[in-house]
Amino acid sequence: MSEKVGRVYRVVCAGSFDPVTNGHVDIIGRAAGLYDEVVVAVGINISKNRLFTADERVAILREVTSHYPNVRVEPFEGLLVDFCGANGIAAVIKGLRAVSDFENEMQMAQMNYRLAKVETLFMTTNPLYSFLSSSLVKEIATYGGDVSGLVPETVLVRLRERLAARAEGRI
Ligand code: PNS
Repeated sequence: MSEKVGRVYRVVCAGSFDPVTNGHVDIIGRAAGLYDEVVVAVGINISKNRLFTADERVAILREVTSHYPNVRVEPFEGLLVDFCGANGIAAVIKGLRAVSDFENEMQMAQMNYRLAKVETLFMTTNPLYSFLSSSLVKEIATYGGDVSGLVPETVLVRLRERLAARAEGRI
């Protein structure tokens, strides 16, 4: 069969990435090995609890994925399916850490299919990172815990700066 119509060449890895973890980077890298192009879509919808701004999150992701020629990073606002439509993307790739992720992810996957026939492909996370989440990283770092090895080096540096600024009341 030589017909390529309907095949998936470009996928999106979407998230808030506040901050990006090594678990995210692992999924993005594996997706980049499977598909021609991976678009990392950084959600910038308003939320109260962001540690890093949208511009910072995009810049960090561009830095940590710069060695993948087929990965590009873009901010997105509004619905993910609209971003997919505007960028010719047929499928979302999501990392699944545990059964606890499944319920919410399945609901979003089915809604995205219902809204715009955008498919969702689940990739099991690397067991090294199955306990890892951005919110846990923020919490551990806030209270002085060591998150080295769980986030890229640039995130570690920025986390220290941001949390010190917070503690000193500079932000
Ligand atoms: O890292 P997160 O916070 O789990 O990422 C969730 C994200 C940004 C991928 C999801 O909330 C999303 O797609 N938001 C955009 C708004 C949207 O499309 N909502 C309907 C989902 S069915």
